[in-house]
Amino acid sequence: MSNRTFTMIKPDAMADGHAGAILDQIIKAGFKIVAMKQTRLSIEKAGEFYAVHKERPFFGELTEFMSSGPIVAAILEKENAVADFRTLIGATNPANAEEGTIRKRFARSVGENAVHGSDSDENAAIEGNFFFSAFERF
Ligand code: CMP
Repeated sequence: MSNRTFTMIKPDAMADGHAGAILDQIIKAGFKIVAMKQTRLSIEKAGEFYAVHKERPFFGELTEFMSSGPIVAAILEKENAVADFRTLIGATNPANAEEGTIRKRFARSVGENAVHGSDSDENAAIEGNFFFSAFERF
């Protein structure tokens, strides 16, 4: 089990002014920030990041949305990081997310759901490497 996960604060939460509150909740839950940046994905880069969802009906909507504005990308560290972070953010669809979770508090909808969290240790490493070089991790 690895102790790192990867997250993005998505364009909806950025536009709604929730980045600070989301980072505060993440840090208070015990996650350390190993790397962090504000950036913006092109539609091509969003397609590369979400390549596993290429055949899904919502792929076009997803890549358009994820390239629609700035995001914050971060690598987070904590014991049991992947599973604990998924608990903290709640279900993909905010309508099904537990009270107090980041998606319940801040997400707009299943597509515009405020934050991303890696679903496995393997993907956490791949996704972290997509955004950050070794020199950007502290
Ligand atoms: P995330 O966990 O970041 O990775 C895949 C994303 O696809 C997911 O968050 C949702 O934002 C998006 N997604 C999943 N299901 C749907 C759906 N039914 N309609 C639109 N977007 C979706």
